[in-house]
Amino acid sequence: MAFQKIEEFAVEISRKAGDILLKGFRSKDTEISYKSRTDLVTNIDRESEEFLYNSIKKKFPDHSIVAEEGSREDREGEFLWYVDPLDATNNFAHGIPFFCVSIGIYSRQLNKVVTGVVFDPLHNELFKASRGEGAFLNGGKIHVSQAGDIGISILATGFPYNKADVKNNNLAEFNKFLPLVQGVRRLGSAALDLCYLACGRIDGYWEPGLKPWDMAGGSIIVEEAGGLVTKYNKDEFDPAFPQIIASNARIHEKMISVLNSQG
Ligand code: IPD
Ligand code: CA
Ligand code: CA
Repeated sequence: MAFQKIEEFAVEISRKAGDILLKGFRSKDTEISYKSRTDLVTNIDRESEEFLYNSIKKKFPDHSIVAEEGSREDREGEFLWYVDPLDATNNFAHGIPFFCVSIGIYSRQLNKVVTGVVFDPLHNELFKASRGEGAFLNGGKIHVSQAGDIGISILATGFPYNKADVKNNNLAEFNKFLPLVQGVRRLGSAALDLCYLACGRIDGYWEPGLKPWDMAGGSIIVEEAGGLVTKYNKDEFDPAFPQIIASNARIHEKMISVLNSQG
């Protein structure tokens, strides 16, 4: 397998970072600070990031790294690691048991994410995929759902932290989807939304305003599970472009037409 060494290492460090998250979850020692009123960060996000960043740098000194809380490593090599040390900080800080570590590795030669690892330490669920190799949950192969009718589909979405200040805050799109589907979930973790789609728990997902570290890992897990991941206009997904629509492939056209409909 072409990306085996990278995948194995990403799995190993995701599990260790998961232990850091578990140690801080619902702990009185976890300190919350505010990047803005709605955008939180904790000492645990930072501890997890420091661990992941130092580990990757040591193991692959010629790889680049972009991590959410500011760690950067700019190298010439093929691979770029997008690291979210704690996806769903709001859930985590409120004691809501739904958060994860998310890592996506992008190849500058292929212009694609080639490996993704998302680890939910509380439920001990490790999702992973490498291009061409399929997608796995705790070692078992996973596949997207078969739902072909949006009317019996469960979708997930999310809203940007600066939802009070920006026009593109996803409420208009939410209003369009809600009456048409079985349900829309706002679970609070973009990476796990994508993994839940990959293993058939939900059927579709869309969200604007995300960053590469939110989407990169989960995007390839969906693709390798047989799903489709694109921009809202169906162009090829790009982790650096702040827009994602992902589905089991069967309801993709319908989701795109709803997203782009007037009113
Ligand atoms: C957030 C989560 C959430 C999404 C937000 C993200 P964070 O990531 O993925 O589901 O709706 O837009 O910023 O900040 O908790 O790592
Ligand atoms: Ca995130
Ligand atoms: Ca985060």
